[in-house]
Amino acid sequence: MRIDVLTLFPEMFAPILGTSIPKRAAEKGLVSYHLTNIRDFATDAHLSVDDKPFGGGPGMVMMCQTIFAAVEHVEKQSPEKPLRILLTPQGKKLEQAIVQQLAAAPRLLLIAGHYEGFDERIIDGLQPLELSIGDYVLSGGELAAMVLIDAVVRLLPGALGAEDGAADETFADGLIEYPQYTRPREFRHMPVPDVLLSGNHAKIAAWRQEQRLLRTQARRPDLWQAYQDAHKPRQA
Ligand code: 6GU
Repeated sequence: MRIDVLTLFPEMFAPILGTSIPKRAAEKGLVSYHLTNIRDFATDAHLSVDDKPFGGGPGMVMMCQTIFAAVEHVEKQSPEKPLRILLTPQGKKLEQAIVQQLAAAPRLLLIAGHYEGFDERIIDGLQPLELSIGDYVLSGGELAAMVLIDAVVRLLPGALGAEDGAADETFADGLIEYPQYTRPREFRHMPVPDVLLSGNHAKIAAWRQEQRLLRTQARRPDLWQAYQDAHKPRQA
């Protein structure tokens, strides 16, 4: 997979893409990252990338010209047509099902903006998939882009070690995870549940599944409702 990122702050990405799974995936050749500074495509004397909104109002708006020029430039660098993604709090909320779809694409082009927003013609003209990472406001799309990259890259086949596969983890089937324990068997009067020390693998699996159901019910009523709807017995 090739991931292009257009941003005003490419330096923000190095520590994240150069650490842990995102770094290892690139070293293994599963993904390559290509950072492009939108400001490199500014054409006026001040290297402007934003301007005051027509009609007035607070803040600044990302201009069309530099974004279009940057998109057209990076898209020519490689023959695959990328899935264009614009990070914006107005976008569809990123969830694991979308992450799985993105992980199947050969190429992603992420556009991270700053300031109050994007000139609407960026959306009308480039037709990106607009994605948000949740209902809160970040000062720019960069952190959201990094969240997306991390979530996608760890799903690429071979990105995770053999022992920590992504198949049976939280959200893959709509339930949150069961509780985990490691040594010591007892810590500050808090013992590990006996069943996990029993060696009975069927009992352990049944306990874990029960815990997933109980915890989803208690903590995530939204996921629990969806799970029940999906597992409803058919009406006669
Ligand atoms: Cl994608 N961008 C910004 N600026 N804020 C956000 C977001 C994105 N997702 C949640 N908050």
